[in-house]
Amino acid sequence: MSLSLEGKVAVVTGGASGVGLGIAQEFVEHGARVVITDLQQAQLDEAVAMIGANCSGIVADVTNLAEMEAMYREVMRRHGRLDSVVANAGIGDHSPLGSITEEQFDRTFNVNAKGVLFTVQPALPLLPPGGTVVIIGSTASIQPPRGMSMYGGAKAAVRNFVRGWIQDIKGSGVRMNVLSPGAVDTESLRRALGQALGADQVDAAVKSMGEGNPTGRVAQPREMGKAAVFLSSDASSFITGVELFADGGMAQV
Ligand SMILES: NC(=O)c1ccc[n+]([C@@H]2O[C@H](COP(=O)([O-])OP(=O)(O)OC[C@H]3O[C@@H](n4cnc5c(N)ncnc54)[C@H](O)[C@@H]3O)[C@@H](O)[C@H]2O)c1
Repeated sequence: MSLSLEGKVAVVTGGASGVGLGIAQEFVEHGARVVITDLQQAQLDEAVAMIGANCSGIVADVTNLAEMEAMYREVMRRHGRLDSVVANAGIGDHSPLGSITEEQFDRTFNVNAKGVLFTVQPALPLLPPGGTVVIIGSTASIQPPRGMSMYGGAKAAVRNFVRGWIQDIKGSGVRMNVLSPGAVDTESLRRALGQALGADQVDAAVKSMGEGNPTGRVAQPREMGKAAVFLSSDASSFITGVELFADGGMAQV
């Protein structure tokens, strides 16, 4: 079984922090050349410096199709090929029913659902047989946390996109899967907990989320990276259309 990504070129959206950064680090460690995309050049420069060789950055907003198309043109100019795409960029606001605004709805679905479409569709003509797409979902697709129905709805939507898309791309040789984390210790998790519970409760909430998990802890971003490497390598050659829960058992009991 080979987990090697040697010779492959990958794009990871939202790769400047959190889960995306952990995925980019694991991809490079497994031999890939990685292009990370994100909203701010400074954030990208910092992440590229942290990852080191075989990584570069491109500013591109996943909600802007023209920027995503330009990003892929630049990837092809730099590397001449594209083998794997990880649609990771995502956001989640705390917005209980009764207080959901149109602006929150649009923002959540624009980044988490439309942004996934704008990441995957323009990549398809570039991906060779054996190419892979991994979409970062969430356990919220089946168990939305209280106050996060918009986020859960968008994650359920992309999970179902993939059920349709694997039929649409039949014959291409490209595989497409959803990788759904439970709780991963990132800035965005801490921000969401801070919004819901207050800033002073965040450390205790992260600890208790972990304790409520069958594994007794929350995940680290690079653990999502290892699962994404598996789904992007030949080790998963007959796996397509699944939602792989890398959640320490959180949503499985
Ligand atoms: N952290 C968790 O506990 C957790 C759990 C389940 C799923 N996820 C999913 O993992 C993914 C990454 O989340 P994270 O926790 O690392 O968050 P994060 O905020 O640390 O990282 C997300 C990155 O995406 C970027 N981004 C946001 N909007 C963008 C846009 N429009 N275009 C391009 N980039 C954009 C941000 O700048 C940021 O660098 C998301 O899809 C999230 O839903 C996270």
